[in-house]
Amino acid sequence: MSGEVVLQARDLTRHYPIRQGLFRSDAVLKAVDGAGFDLRRGQTLAVVGESGSGKSTLARLITMIEPPTSGSLNILGKEIVGASRATLKDLRSSVQIVFQNPYASLNPRQKIGAALEEPLLVNTSLSRAERREKAEAMMAAVGLLPEHFHRYPHMFSGGQRQRIAIARALMLDPAILVLDEPVSALDVSIQAQILNLLTKLQDRLDLAYLFISHDLSIVRHIADEVVVLYLGHPVEQGPGKTIFDDPRHPYTRALLSATPVADPLRRKERIVLKGELPSPLAPPPGCTFNTRCPLVFERCRVEEPKLRQVAGRDVACHACG
Ligand SMILES: Nc1ncnc2c1ncn2[C@@H]1O[C@H](COP(=O)(O)OP(=O)(O)OP(=O)(O)O)[C@@H](O)[C@H]1O
Ligand SMILES: [Mg+2]
Repeated sequence: MSGEVVLQARDLTRHYPIRQGLFRSDAVLKAVDGAGFDLRRGQTLAVVGESGSGKSTLARLITMIEPPTSGSLNILGKEIVGASRATLKDLRSSVQIVFQNPYASLNPRQKIGAALEEPLLVNTSLSRAERREKAEAMMAAVGLLPEHFHRYPHMFSGGQRQRIAIARALMLDPAILVLDEPVSALDVSIQAQILNLLTKLQDRLDLAYLFISHDLSIVRHIADEVVVLYLGHPVEQGPGKTIFDDPRHPYTRALLSATPVADPLRRKERIVLKGELPSPLAPPPGCTFNTRCPLVFERCRVEEPKLRQVAGRDVACHACG
């Protein structure tokens, strides 16, 4: 049913122990720290943030490529933390991922038809004819032609390859599609085509999308819900429209101010963040954003802000009203 919650993340963390050599104690890199959100059928949750903010790590947790360090992750009504191998295997086919670079995720020696049939061969008992039929139907659904069935990945353009990657991800009828920067490597004109295709497929198949992007001008058009990450922490999250119309966290404001807007009347002042992204191995105490924040005051340097409701969304900030 459209709108039904298919994934629930609560206080999700992924920490990596980092060895620092013989004479220094080991450190912990908190790639994702305290993420919590719901993902609904037929809807798009966008995860945004700069490079290193933990977006792909979150994608690996959701797709069960890596286990969380702590927290809970419920997918289609099943808790995956501590779940049996059989349960995980079952759930894995329900959550599929599309990466930024489709060429890297396609085997150059495998024809497209075989690449599409492979997940069916491994995970289902469909006959050869049924697999072929399903692969051909999926090719048509993503805008590929029947004669593409016998071609190799290098014979396609970037946009077509991304169509193939999307088709492959959909072969097992997943409920959730994780899209990790799916159009970032494509020309702007091709980006729009792929985004249109994703919208069409979402409507038709009632898919839940976790859409990862550093590009807010893309996210603006497709996100029902948004999570903004900074150094692994969610700093602002809620309905896309609420956040884009009236961002409250200074980091979200800075990200948005750097995004071109089509409407010249709405052109905003560009907020340039001071300083550099701190090392994720040694984030500042208190609020991790305090070294770059234009609103910083004493409390921010000692007390970590928790997410709290402000004007229809959640914000982790001591200074935001
Ligand atoms: N396997 C790992 N071991 C140690 N550190 C890791 C590992 N994977 C990711 N990290 C670190 O975790 C942090 C988050 O990385 P991640 O790849 O999730 O960021 P991202 O938001 O996807 O960045 P980008 O926009 O560049 O893709 C980074 O500091 C990264 O170096
Ligand atoms: Mg990434």
